[in-house]
Amino acid sequence: MEAVNRNLVKWFFFMLATLLISLDVPAQNNERDKKWWKEAVVYQIYPRSFKDSDGDGVGDLKGIISKLDYIKSLGIDAVWLNPIYSSPNDDNGYDISDYRNIMKEFGTMEDFDSMLKGMHQRNIKLVMDLVVNHSSDEHEWFKHSRSSRTSPYRNYYHWWNAERGKPAPRYSLFDVNHDAWKYDSMTRAYYLHYFSRKQPDLNWENPQVRKEVYDIMKFWADKGIDGFRLDAFQFAAKDTTFPAFPAGYEKNFVKYYAMGPHLHDYLKEMNQQVFSKYDVMSVAEGAGNTFEDAHNLVDAERKELNMAYAFEGVDVAKPEGYSLLHFKEVFSRWDSAFAEKGWLSIFLANHDQARLVSRFGNDSPAFRDLSSKMLTTFIMTMRGTPYYYNGDELGMTNAGFEKIEDYRDMPTLNEYQHQKDIGGDIHQFLERIKFECRDNGRTPFQWDNTTNAGFTSGTPWIKVNANYKTINAEAQEKDSNSVLNYFKKVVRLRKQNPTLIYGKYTLLDKDNPKVYAYTREGEGKKMLIALNFTGANAIAKVGLNTEKAKILLSNYQEAPVQKGEKAMIKLRPFEAVIYQLP
Ligand code: GLC
Repeated sequence: MEAVNRNLVKWFFFMLATLLISLDVPAQNNERDKKWWKEAVVYQIYPRSFKDSDGDGVGDLKGIISKLDYIKSLGIDAVWLNPIYSSPNDDNGYDISDYRNIMKEFGTMEDFDSMLKGMHQRNIKLVMDLVVNHSSDEHEWFKHSRSSRTSPYRNYYHWWNAERGKPAPRYSLFDVNHDAWKYDSMTRAYYLHYFSRKQPDLNWENPQVRKEVYDIMKFWADKGIDGFRLDAFQFAAKDTTFPAFPAGYEKNFVKYYAMGPHLHDYLKEMNQQVFSKYDVMSVAEGAGNTFEDAHNLVDAERKELNMAYAFEGVDVAKPEGYSLLHFKEVFSRWDSAFAEKGWLSIFLANHDQARLVSRFGNDSPAFRDLSSKMLTTFIMTMRGTPYYYNGDELGMTNAGFEKIEDYRDMPTLNEYQHQKDIGGDIHQFLERIKFECRDNGRTPFQWDNTTNAGFTSGTPWIKVNANYKTINAEAQEKDSNSVLNYFKKVVRLRKQNPTLIYGKYTLLDKDNPKVYAYTREGEGKKMLIALNFTGANAIAKVGLNTEKAKILLSNYQEAPVQKGEKAMIKLRPFEAVIYQLP
């Protein structure tokens, strides 16, 4: 009888499995859907500031090549490289004039090929930045397009003939007047630029433009690169009748600009034409306005993109500070929205942000190292692919520039001019950019304590942070307790524990304003992460008996003293502890 029952049970599960397979039910985020890009730690390199090999003060590809062993030593799996294509550099490479060539300052295509080879020899994948919401106004397409109303390239961009009057306003993020329509006297028409005047928006509604882009993508994929990050792509599709938006729309321009008509058709086409033919991963910058938007970009069965890169988390930090309760709420909400399907990127910094430790931690000498390590622990123990920005592994801090002359960032300089034009408070503006400006995260990488932090033998394109004698890679490599060595440890721990990649996330002690505590469970293990986000002692009420827990990692040299007395964990300032629970 028992045997009959067992057979019945077996039969039932067999039929269920057959049914699920025949229904093609997507099994995501579980063992059947493991992907390299979910397991990878992505290290972002800002090439202009990484390492200069020829003394012109600008980082370059040969510089990156010379540091490949350093990059490998971090234990990361993939590099996301900011744009390296030919560019007049109005926006540091985000204005591309030739998509099949390398920016002069960065080197040659031979350099690129040897860099890619060097990465692959070391088992490091390369994700390229693809900027195709717009090109440079110095791209041949635009030169032709602006030359005549009858040019075959006219429809590569968005033009509005002047005899129709001025088009409905569009807000430009980077323009000195924030006007996204620029009048061009050559053909008496306005062209659209969501970013700067030198970044005209491409017309994705034109199938020829789309074909050009897919060909460019294939050119790079054929070279063997491993992925694409699609810059500002949520804005690519537009309603070309350009209807008026309600007053004040610019305060929430993502709502009006993102997910335009046919965006999903374009992504499906791109997937068919490119992604499906290569082993490449894809991530778009921005994830729309709602969870539904984000899912529509990345749910696997839709065959569009692989993972979402949403801004709500990184946007929590403000010049006046931020609330940990808000931070926890945002990250928990996103995790739960993606718990069953879809996949997220986890990041707290990139080239468009000020420094990780200065924004989310405490960059004073007393807490800089501890809070850097604590934040790194957070990034590496959440569900989603971690993106980690170069220099943060040393705990590099904001530049703290006092004078406008020290800044290089085009939108910042335009906004400075704008503030002057409208009689704005310049002192207040300078205070704000000292905290917020993206140049804070773009100062040269601090390699050692020699002149210019070992970044260049020439004059760096932007000032080196004055603290390079204390914060630099060479010193930290030698110090087993450094931020750098901690980074390596926590990356290794993530790689060794698929629980930290695929495991379920559960928030603990939700209303604790000082501590972020959560468990990750799955793949045969349960882990508890407790992070003190403040410079004072704090207690996490985790409600779990951690008496028999094993401490896997802590950011203090002296082992944590607590071990779950009465289901509470005592944490020292900015302490981070990872436990394995029995
Ligand atoms: C993205 C990039 C940013 C750039 C902008 C325009 O937001 O990350 O650096 O300035 O797009 O391309």
